[in-house]
Amino acid sequence: MDSSDRHQPDILLLGAGGFIGSHLCVALRRRNRCRLTALDLDRSKIDQGLAEAVEFDAGVSGSTPAGSEIRYVDLDIVQPENRERLDELIAGHDIVVNMIAVCNPALYVSDPLGTFEIGFRGNLDIIDSCVRHDRRLIHFSTCEVYGKSPAVYVEDEAFWFDEEESNLIMGPVSRHRWIYASGKQLLERYIHAHGLQNGLDYTIIRPFNYIGQRIDYLPSEQTGNPRVFSHFMNALLTGEPLSLVNGGEQRRAYLYIRDATEAHLRIIENEGNLCSRRIFNVGNPANETSIRDLAVLMSDIWRERFMSPGEVLPGLREVSGEEFYGVGYDDIDRRLPLIDAIRECTGWEPVYGLREMLVEIMEYYHRRVGSIA
Ligand code: UGA
Repeated sequence: MDSSDRHQPDILLLGAGGFIGSHLCVALRRRNRCRLTALDLDRSKIDQGLAEAVEFDAGVSGSTPAGSEIRYVDLDIVQPENRERLDELIAGHDIVVNMIAVCNPALYVSDPLGTFEIGFRGNLDIIDSCVRHDRRLIHFSTCEVYGKSPAVYVEDEAFWFDEEESNLIMGPVSRHRWIYASGKQLLERYIHAHGLQNGLDYTIIRPFNYIGQRIDYLPSEQTGNPRVFSHFMNALLTGEPLSLVNGGEQRRAYLYIRDATEAHLRIIENEGNLCSRRIFNVGNPANETSIRDLAVLMSDIWRERFMSPGEVLPGLREVSGEEFYGVGYDDIDRRLPLIDAIRECTGWEPVYGLREMLVEIMEYYHRRVGSIA
């Protein structure tokens, strides 16, 4: 790339049709400074995101936004016969953003081999191609690589997860939820080793519980077992109790997808190459909550803003992990990200508080379900 091309990189988004990818696609398109290829099997979330952005901008300025064109590629990267095509696509772009994964604990439990096939084997091909063609790789890993918090076992141990210092603690093999995190952990080590030995230019992102518009389907729209926000939202919409798995005392720190997308854009921009060969936690420790408190907060917001007259707020019910997910489930007690590294390298700072983001996302799903009904 010469310097005149530097503001027009060709970006290949792998897994572009998912929750994180669809938000990134819309944001990159708006910035209009790159050529975009979006690969996935389903582009409906991207279409939805683009339509919502057009609607929003028309409301604000009365006109439709301009932006880079998106080229779509419909390819199943797990199929061996598609490997060559994938390799050609990677060779033809400057930056590869890899978001291909199964990101749902219920699927790690019900289909550990499928999780491995996509999450691990499919990703190896992508990494190898980036090494072969000397392409910059932005690889989405997961906060699950930290595993269980050591503070639960060792007194005085810090709760914070630090990219450079924390040990990564997985559960036993018989709790096959850990196949996802173990595979992701090995991929990170493989990428790191390619950085050391072959000069691979990479950034690894560890997302910490992003939530936002289009995160998952709701269980009443589609069968399945999505992540917690969608379960709670569905329960409020249908008047069924909100389920607290194993009591709901486990804790998560939630980051709004709007904040997360800004972090991703800065990492892609890579000002001063400060993000190269780095691992970043991307999360918001200020938004830490127990799952029980999340259920209570969502119920409060529902009562204040969405509840119809005469409607009764559904209660909470406790359920075991095995009953909710099946045999092989295990949980992570607490996940608290240190975010000094990404702050220092990009100046990024999360801005949305938990209540504020929940109001916006619940409003979105409330409107969406209303328009479906
Ligand atoms: C998941 C993924 O496995 C991670 O890879 C991913 O990075 C992460 O989401 C994320 O969104 O960043 P987890 O936080 O366990 O991890 O996902 P959820 O399904 O949202 O569960 C959160 C907690 O709520 C768990 O303790 C779960 O047992 C509990 N839960 C879930 C309930 O109490 N009730 C429900 O209805 C659903």
